[in-house]
Amino acid sequence: PEEKTFALIKPDAAKTHKGKAVFTDVNISTKDLQRTLQVKQAGFSISKVKEQALTREMAAQFYKDHEGKPFFEDLVNCMTAGPSVVMVLSKENAVEEWRQLMGPTDPEEAKKVSPESIRAQFAHDILSNAVHGSSNPEHAMKSIAFAFGELDAYWFPQGP
Ligand code: CMP
Repeated sequence: PEEKTFALIKPDAAKTHKGKAVFTDVNISTKDLQRTLQVKQAGFSISKVKEQALTREMAAQFYKDHEGKPFFEDLVNCMTAGPSVVMVLSKENAVEEWRQLMGPTDPEEAKKVSPESIRAQFAHDILSNAVHGSSNPEHAMKSIAFAFGELDAYWFPQGP
């Protein structure tokens, strides 16, 4: 059965890698988007995608499980440094497979254990680590509702 996960391209990567092969400009056509995203090559369908600049309140809410940790302020700063790209990705076992494709949180570890992963290739450091993905299906549903509560998302019901 198909599963959905929530994926986010963080401001550091959304800015640096816009237009490149892995992450792309969401303002281009549907067909180009589908063709150029690495997630498509890995068999994910992009069910929804939009560019979204998070406010400090949104970032703090989104990462409230990390409140109180030493890196929390830096995390909120990093997540509000520019627009993110938020997506709903669909495929069988999507939550786990997107996490595999992202690689470990720390890019130094990612380079060792998963050199093909997105973080190994594109993350700057453990904080500005290019992408986010839900850790379980329940978080995924919450994050999808959080990011796509409105109707301004692009919709790709069947792919290209
Ligand atoms: P993410 O997968 O989005 O979930 C929580 C984020 O907190 C994580 O990616 C990193 O951006 C950040 N983070 C986690 N651990 C650390 C750490 N030890 N130092 C700095 N940032 C961290």
